[in-house]
Amino acid sequence: MDRLDRSDTPVVIGAGLAGLMTALYLAPAPVIVLAKTALGSGIASGFAQGGVAAALGADDEPGLHAVDTLAAGDALCDAAVVERVTAAAPETIAELARRGVAFDRDADGGFLLGLEAAHSRRRIVHAGGDRSGSEIMCALIAAVRRTPSITVLEGVEARRLLLRDGCVAGVLAAGPAETVMLPASRVVIATGGIGGLYRHTTNPLGALGQGVALAARAGARLADMEFVQFHPTALDVGLDPMPLVSEAVRGEGASLVDETGARFTDELKPRDQVSRAVWRHRGDGHRVFLDARQALGARFGTRFPAIAAHCRAAGIDPATDLIPVRPAEHYHMGGIAVDAAGRSTVAGLWACGEAAATGLHGANRLASNSLLEAAVCARWVADSIASTPAQPKLFQLPPPVLPPPAAAGPVREIMSAGLGVLRDRDGLRAAITALQPIAFGNGPAADPAAVGLVIAVAALGREESRGAHWRSDFPRRSAGPARRSLLRLDEADIIATRLLGDAALAAVGD
Ligand code: SIN
Repeated sequence: MDRLDRSDTPVVIGAGLAGLMTALYLAPAPVIVLAKTALGSGIASGFAQGGVAAALGADDEPGLHAVDTLAAGDALCDAAVVERVTAAAPETIAELARRGVAFDRDADGGFLLGLEAAHSRRRIVHAGGDRSGSEIMCALIAAVRRTPSITVLEGVEARRLLLRDGCVAGVLAAGPAETVMLPASRVVIATGGIGGLYRHTTNPLGALGQGVALAARAGARLADMEFVQFHPTALDVGLDPMPLVSEAVRGEGASLVDETGARFTDELKPRDQVSRAVWRHRGDGHRVFLDARQALGARFGTRFPAIAAHCRAAGIDPATDLIPVRPAEHYHMGGIAVDAAGRSTVAGLWACGEAAATGLHGANRLASNSLLEAAVCARWVADSIASTPAQPKLFQLPPPVLPPPAAAGPVREIMSAGLGVLRDRDGLRAAITALQPIAFGNGPAADPAAVGLVIAVAALGREESRGAHWRSDFPRRSAGPARRSLLRLDEADIIATRLLGDAALAAVGD
């Protein structure tokens, strides 16, 4: 076992936008970044087409961006966080540009601003058209490589957080050749989302909620876990993961039609509503397509080169053909509960990006607010770490057993069956019954199942429909003020055991 003796150096787990921006903001202070694959590969940020939302237009202001964010979040957002993030957005775009991101601009050098669903203004900045995520990541990777204070350990995957007296004391990781133990009293989780837990996803398949699992097993509180966003228009040509067909295509006027050519919904409603409309229409036996022929026609390939390439590879010409689409898991609003500085409930543990639940997104994330959140919150996390002294005497840790690499295994089918676009009590109970024993076993699906279990328990407890959480047995919002859900893994386990015990008793009573 290799024990890297740098206990005063913060460790960032994850090398997407949130992780790299945190490391860059920490410079010139030293920081170690763990990237489980080669830098730039296997990260959801690199897949992003939609860009970054910011009130930059002459007709726009952060307050309007905040109003749209709150409306999409279905009364569950933390209004103070929304105000802070939307206010910081224009300066964050400038910061990214200073760090080398070449955003798309008009002939006068102003930002080209796109429209996406549920935004009341054109406010999405892109880079490289629909290649925003990979363009942004290329620029940030170059910036990281130029920064000597950042040590990137590629091919190193965090498997457990080490604790002492309830505080973070280090990271146990698997390296390319051996186990690595990193003493560290300040650790940031920036591992992205959970799409790999679902049968249909636009995320990299390695997005199994590992960061949420690390935090959960360390006793951190998780928030809003039941809120999982399904994108309505993933390209339905049999690929896994599914390429996204960006909302920006609908923002440019493309419509959603079925096999008869009929439109069946308003394409620019918030994402959760469009996803449900597509889901139900498919459930009624229809096929669903995006029709960009009229709105974009021959312009499609230049405006959306990456999507056009995916379509062409499947034998579809978006200028003349309908594009087959279906909903797919795209983003997790829930995650590790953090405060305004990105601190979790475990001392020494911060979270940033999709793995964190800041309260910005509420029950449904507004399009292009995720890269924004990652970049904005990275600064707050870095500032908070910089003002938190490292804790000494962290080197006497007993070497724990390295858990196996996570694999979703049966969890994908369980989540897809019980925790998809539409949910109900029976499906949620079935998911809990299946997930609980896997979550507390020793197999590779244990961590994915633990994340799924907390999602399922939170979803069963939320007896209402709100944002992306839609219960067909409770199809309305509950009366009274919205409440965020907060759960630890041990609490979810207790609830699951009680539920299943009750069910067994009821069955005996039958
Ligand atoms: C999209 O381009 O439709 C996705 C944007 C996002 O997820 O924010």
